Amino acid sequence: MLDNFFKEVKAEFKSALIKRNHPFKYLTLSTVDEKDMPQSRTIVLREIHDNLDCIIFTDSRTSKVHQLANNSQACLLAYHPKKMLQLKLNGNLYPIDDPSEIKRLFQMVGEKAMKDYTTCSIPGTSISNPDNVNYTVRNENHFLPLQFVPDQWEVLQLKRPNHLRALFERENNWEGQWMVP
Ligand SMILES: Cc1cc2nc3c(=O)[nH]c(=O)nc-3n(C[C@H](O)[C@H](O)[C@H](O)COP(=O)(O)O)c2cc1C
Repeated sequence: MLDNFFKEVKAEFKSALIKRNHPFKYLTLSTVDEKDMPQSRTIVLREIHDNLDCIIFTDSRTSKVHQLANNSQACLLAYHPKKMLQLKLNGNLYPIDDPSEIKRLFQMVGEKAMKDYTTCSIPGTSISNPDNVNYTVRNENHFLPLQFVPDQWEVLQLKRPNHLRALFERENNWEGQWMVP
């Protein structure tokens, strides 16, 4: 039953890449800042590999990228309201530095989305008017793909008569363990 539970949850997670408006498309990414404070923000899930690594895209000048240079530990949190299913993925997040991989992933970025990686000023810079943002051209971008490497998947499903909570760990070859919910 535990194996099946993990299979079903992985399938649900992967379907976020195919199904329109799937709630797992948008995840909360937490990192740790220079003062050891947790910092969370919403990100879009872009790819899930067979080994469960996840790819996300960002601007290389954002705070999260600076934080990762100091501490690569990260958490991805997902919630599916209809299924009352929560996934908490703990692991490490790394900037991808392989040029061919960056090129492959960059091809996924459409023209409109290029704005996310081409502001002239650093994201988070104070401005007096939100209309006063200037952009560079596509080939002068700050696109940076990040690879999340999970060590643990903690899954919680609220249901009757019993909630289900389990921990799956890479070091145990992703074998799971039921937990008290
Ligand atoms: C719906 C939504 C999706 C977002 N997707 C991304 C994303 O995929 N990558 C990203 O870097 N920021 C994304 N953002 C913006 C981040 O939440 C955050 O504001 C930005 O990355 C700066 O974060 P940081 O300063 O903590 O690094 C998204 C925001 C929202 C509201």
